[in-house]
Amino acid sequence: MSVTEVLLYLALLCSAECTFRFASYYADHMVLQMAPSQAVVWGFGEVGARVTVSLYKEKDAVTKKSDFITGPEGVWKVILDPVDHGGPYWLLALQNHEEQITNITLQDILFGDVWLCGGQSNMEMTVSQIFNASDELHKAVHYPHVRLFTAALETSPTELQDLAKVDLQWSLPTPQTLGNGDFTYFSAVCWLFGRHLHRRLKYPIGLVESVWGGTPVEAWSSKKALAECGLSGNGGQDMCMDWFYYSGPCTYSVLWNAMIHPLLNMTIKGAIWYQGEQNTGMNTNLYNCTFPAMIENWRQSFHEGSSGQTDRHFPFGFVQLSTCQKSRDPDNYPVIRWHQSADYGFVPNQKMLNTFMAVAMDLGDEKSPYGSVHPRDKQTVAYRLYLGARAVAYGDKSASYKGPFPERMDVDYTASCINITYDQDISVLHQSQSLFEVFCRSSVTQDDMASFQWVAVAWSDASSRVVMVTFKGCAQVSGIRYAWADWPCEYRACPIYSSDGKLPAPLFIKYFNGDKIDFYP
Ligand SMILES: *[C@@H]1O[C@H](CO)[C@@H](O)[C@H](O)[C@H]1NC(C)=O
Ligand SMILES: *[C@@H]1O[C@H](CO)[C@@H](O)[C@H](O)[C@H]1NC(C)=O
Ligand SMILES: *[C@@H]1O[C@H](CO)[C@@H](O)[C@H](O)[C@H]1NC(C)=O
Ligand SMILES: *[C@@H]1O[C@H](CO)[C@@H](O)[C@H](O)[C@H]1NC(C)=O
Ligand SMILES: *[C@@H]1O[C@H](CO)[C@@H](O)[C@H](O)[C@H]1NC(C)=O
Repeated sequence: MSVTEVLLYLALLCSAECTFRFASYYADHMVLQMAPSQAVVWGFGEVGARVTVSLYKEKDAVTKKSDFITGPEGVWKVILDPVDHGGPYWLLALQNHEEQITNITLQDILFGDVWLCGGQSNMEMTVSQIFNASDELHKAVHYPHVRLFTAALETSPTELQDLAKVDLQWSLPTPQTLGNGDFTYFSAVCWLFGRHLHRRLKYPIGLVESVWGGTPVEAWSSKKALAECGLSGNGGQDMCMDWFYYSGPCTYSVLWNAMIHPLLNMTIKGAIWYQGEQNTGMNTNLYNCTFPAMIENWRQSFHEGSSGQTDRHFPFGFVQLSTCQKSRDPDNYPVIRWHQSADYGFVPNQKMLNTFMAVAMDLGDEKSPYGSVHPRDKQTVAYRLYLGARAVAYGDKSASYKGPFPERMDVDYTASCINITYDQDISVLHQSQSLFEVFCRSSVTQDDMASFQWVAVAWSDASSRVVMVTFKGCAQVSGIRYAWADWPCEYRACPIYSSDGKLPAPLFIKYFNGDKIDFYP
């Protein structure tokens, strides 16, 4: 190409890109991140134009005008002064290009906390698909200060600057915006989580849904995050195998590129995530690396994209997988559940700081019309996530949000028993005799590990914190696990809960050699 051709090409490129506008996800009715963070606002304009953004409440401009000279790619970006929660405000953006002045305004802007909701189909299930749907949909209009946005399903081989398409532009909650159809908008878990936060905090909450069913963690991860776990190149297939009800793109990074990267420049409070089912069939044994690496990379990228306004260690909550299929041998569901916590069994932990987890293995729904992998009780799981957010994201010390987890085990080989001491008082709903298993062999003369087998053992609660399991038939034991099954218990009826009966004890697995076992690695 000649110089003239290059210039012509650039001019053409700019006439499409450089029309003065906000980026796709800045619109009327939106929520911007409140103080102490500062909201980032950006868009496109003529190269070299001066762009001025002001925030108004009624007639007075409440923030100083912020100027920005649009760069060579036609992008401008402004960081507003910190604004306390409230509204409505309006935003005026003025472009001055060669003395030609154009403006755009956004109306009904609120300031509050912005949460990003990610994952696959269990996050994608809409309010119209869950239990008590009509009741939940009718209540929607009582929460006009919870605002919704849904990115469209798009893939890209390269990192996009802006979303290619929007499914639901910033909206108020109504039966239509919350229950558009199956697996469209709006996410029930995201909505219920935001509604709980709003009722507690009493200020606006913005919910950004960027979700695609049947997708693996690798599709949502940048190349850099995948490299941390030894994955490289354009791995994965175009579409995942269709094991279940729904299946989406599986190629590494394609959803990061199209559905997460464009959002990095927005200031957010935190993220919630419901994903992992697809990874029971793809890179399962790497999930203890890929998931924490994705979280870390999202945190770093949102921090950088927002010029430091999104917290470098922003809170990240997730749902530990629910159930998929009854009467299946232990399979990859417990493995993914365990890996979701980086093999600690609980979060936050040293590898997953500032995270919270909603246990959901007791919320199975065999008769779900959307397939048993899609339980309809999203209320309970969203409530558990909300408890985690209160404690971890909002520092509410009074919120208990973790089910009982063992802190110590004492093995008595003579009496053939193990006492498991939990980190809190427990309530025992029933003593299902199949959920505690020990790794056992009946004779010590055999020398190979292969002679060990998992066998269910009898157990009882020995005190308000201690469970005693007995392993009479075993000459030797070298491991213990709890609830290691795809579908360990009936609906809200696992054996062990917190003392108030609300939070189930999560699954665990522990190998040992000796008689005192510390549970914190
Ligand atoms: C914005 O543009 C409209 C018409 O394009 C004009 O009427 C209005 O005065 C402008 N507002 C400001 C503050 O410049
Ligand atoms: C992840 O789990 C696998 C077994 O599934 C194990 O071999 C590996 O060491 C673990 N990796 C990390 C980073 O903990
Ligand atoms: C948004 O953030 C990304 C990542 O930091 C950066 O590459 C990009 O230039 C930013 N876009 C704008 C409009 O500032
Ligand atoms: C559905 O509504 C009934 C009646 O109000 C209530 O008892 C039940 O807990 C609700 N189900 C869920 C999953 O919230
Ligand atoms: C386990 O608990 C039982 C009941 O409290 C007690 O009798 C026993 O000594 C304990 N065993 C060990 C190894 O701590």
